[in-house]
Amino acid sequence: MVASITTTIAWIVLIVVTLGWAVYGLASIRQGRREAGAEIRLAANRKPYYDDDELEGRKLERTQLLGVAFLAVITIVLPLYWILEPGRQSGAEKMWEHQFEGWGGRLFASTADGGYNCAGCHGGMNGAGGAAAYSVADPTTGEVKAVDWKAPAVNTIFYRFSESEVRFILQYGRPFSPMSPWGLEGGGPLNSQQLQTLLDYMHSIQVPREDCAVQGADARSCEGGHLPKEMQDAIQAEAERLVEAGTYATVGEALFNLDLAGGGYSCARCHTKGWSYGEPQITGGGAFGPNLTGGSAVRQFPNQSDMIAFIKGGSEYGKRYGAQGQGSGRMPAFGAMLTDEQITAIVEYVRGL
Ligand code: HEC
Ligand code: HEC
Repeated sequence: MVASITTTIAWIVLIVVTLGWAVYGLASIRQGRREAGAEIRLAANRKPYYDDDELEGRKLERTQLLGVAFLAVITIVLPLYWILEPGRQSGAEKMWEHQFEGWGGRLFASTADGGYNCAGCHGGMNGAGGAAAYSVADPTTGEVKAVDWKAPAVNTIFYRFSESEVRFILQYGRPFSPMSPWGLEGGGPLNSQQLQTLLDYMHSIQVPREDCAVQGADARSCEGGHLPKEMQDAIQAEAERLVEAGTYATVGEALFNLDLAGGGYSCARCHTKGWSYGEPQITGGGAFGPNLTGGSAVRQFPNQSDMIAFIKGGSEYGKRYGAQGQGSGRMPAFGAMLTDEQITAIVEYVRGL
């Protein structure tokens, strides 16, 4: 539509210009004929010019002065431009990032605030984890009942997934969960630009990392950084409390099943069917993620250290792992979330399933 309007206007302009040239050309030819012989008197180049005094005096000086003035302008403005340009560029980049975060935030907001309710399910505008009303059908009786399905924290989402992996989650949602597809390709309402602004917004709410490899790097995305120590300590304290309370036998088991941040730090959410809505079936028996019981995880990773490395780094799309696994990018990385001891404890627990 817009393109065809532009094309039409372009055609009209082209026709008008061509006609104009044709008219001008014809008129010139006619005028030239009529005034044949008269141009010697009228020609501009026959007009007397300045005399020598004037030409080599004031006129010359004025022209030279003008040259010097232009040179001064160029001498000052060019380096000034060169100095200011990088700042202007990074400023423009920041301005757009900020703009995108703002737009993403509007999409992220709850329904009441005119957004798509990411905030409503994921625990507010800082996405710290929440729950979603959902209904599940009993596979044997077919009975449908209302449940609260844990919605994981997204303020640590880039600790666990790369940007393209998160884009995939937004695009296609999590099947058989309240997380619906949001991208047009997955059948949702948002185009790729809107998904990008949501990603930018989620970058802006990431919990700042500690111990970034490069000093002064953006703590929300830096290499090498990990979850703040106090949060890791809180995770550890909660796991130990659950062991003391007798809910779980080991810290590893408690961490596997940890119910913090909407399950954002746990394994059970993906590997235990029903865990997310308070009706866990066989622990590690497989749900969104594969079955880890019956020694299958050990067969995939005969070496404990390989399994630890896998849990720390997560899976990557198309990349192989373990004895015969092919990653889809859906297994999160826990290396920046949990301490090495915590991951080792979990792995020891998983290997006993
Ligand atoms: C109806 C509630 C609901 C809405 C609305 C919703 N989500 Fe979710 N989202 C969930 C649930 C529940 C999960 C976890 C599904 C599961 O158990 O695997 C989830 C998962 C996710 C994940 C993956 C998290 C992880 O660690 O595995 C991301 C990222 C995410 N949502 C972002 C968003 C964004 C962005 C929006 C807004 C466009 C949004 N969600 C809207 C309920 C919701
Ligand atoms: C967001 C969902 C999700 C969470 C949370 C999650 N996983 Fe996974 N996991 C997967 C998926 C999906 C796979 C399959 C590999 C793939 O698709 O890339 C997988 C694969 C695995 C495997 C390899 C299994 C095999 O037989 O190939 C192990 C072991 C594993 N996960 C352990 C864990 C542990 C331990 C945790 C918690 C620290 C955890 N997972 C948390 C989704 C998840």
